[in-house]
Amino acid sequence: MDKYFTLNDGSKIPAIGYGTYNEEFKDNKSSILTAIECGYRFFDTASLYETERSLGNAIKESGIARTDLIIETKLWIDEMGADNAKKALERSLNRLQTDYVDIYMIHWPRQTGADDERWKELDTETWKAMEEMVDQGRVRRLGLSNFLPHHLKNILETCRIKPVVDQLELHPGYSQEAAVSYCKDNEVIPMAWSPLGRGRENATIGNSILVRLSEKYGKSIQQINLRFLLQKGILPIPKASSKEHIKANLDVFDFELSEDDVSMLSCMPQTAWLEEHPDFNIPAKKSNPDNI
Ligand SMILES: NC(=O)c1ccc[n+]([C@@H]2O[C@H](COP(=O)([O-])OP(=O)(O)OC[C@H]3O[C@@H](n4cnc5c(N)ncnc54)[C@H](OP(=O)(O)O)[C@@H]3O)[C@@H](O)[C@H]2O)c1
Repeated sequence: MDKYFTLNDGSKIPAIGYGTYNEEFKDNKSSILTAIECGYRFFDTASLYETERSLGNAIKESGIARTDLIIETKLWIDEMGADNAKKALERSLNRLQTDYVDIYMIHWPRQTGADDERWKELDTETWKAMEEMVDQGRVRRLGLSNFLPHHLKNILETCRIKPVVDQLELHPGYSQEAAVSYCKDNEVIPMAWSPLGRGRENATIGNSILVRLSEKYGKSIQQINLRFLLQKGILPIPKASSKEHIKANLDVFDFELSEDDVSMLSCMPQTAWLEEHPDFNIPAKKSNPDNI
């Protein structure tokens, strides 16, 4: 299996990224430095996570050339709209200590509740502003996050620059096959957030199918999980803190799940959804004004 995915603009991106979100919003520079040391070159962050500065500091300290890295960040719900988006990008660039991001994303598609369609207009207005950021060289490519087919369709129908990726909650316990197929039909790479089901018992560790495959292939449950996503054409961005986990999550290119086993995992009971639905659970959290 290739260790890179090819995006719809012809560029290549590492097949596994490192997720920088941590629930405590703590400085995770040392974990990011470990990830760089272990070979990760693609990093996912967001203004909401408050890890952009940690990532920028880690990159500086590592001495790795900026051009050898893919940095992806996202604007939050309260940073949408043309003017807000432009200011949000400048704040992100400042925290990341770089003059461009490789992929800039809309974090969440919907800001308005049921039966309120204004989100469509705000998404397209924001996207237009993001296209200008590409024109200005501040952003290399554009992406989406948590966009289900109906949200993605709204962008595809109006965009000048197509999204290269769409980040969705994806793991064997929540496969979202319809959203994944829609992405692929439109040459958008589906990217898996929480690819390990955020370490929840029912998503990975306690699942008997994963336990059985772990024994069969001599790989951890988490490695089976990641390999499954890769073989489905999905790019995972696992988060890990310990060096052991960070390394293990890259060590998934020396084995292959059989077609039958991929099929079995694809039909696993869908019991591990993290309960964050883009249309029905619009996050109330605001971006932190002190995160400068
Ligand atoms: N777009 C969005 O709305 C969205 C939402 C959520 C997340 N994300 C992105 O997706 C990234 C990953 O998702 P996530 O952080 O929610 O969860 P995750 O990657 O599914 O799971 C992380 C958990 O798995 C554990 N782990 C990692 N590697 C392991 C291994 N090899 N063996 C055993 N346990 C392992 C970690 O433990 P340790 O930390 O102790 O190693 C941690 O508890 C985030 O960091 C963020 O960048 C995006």
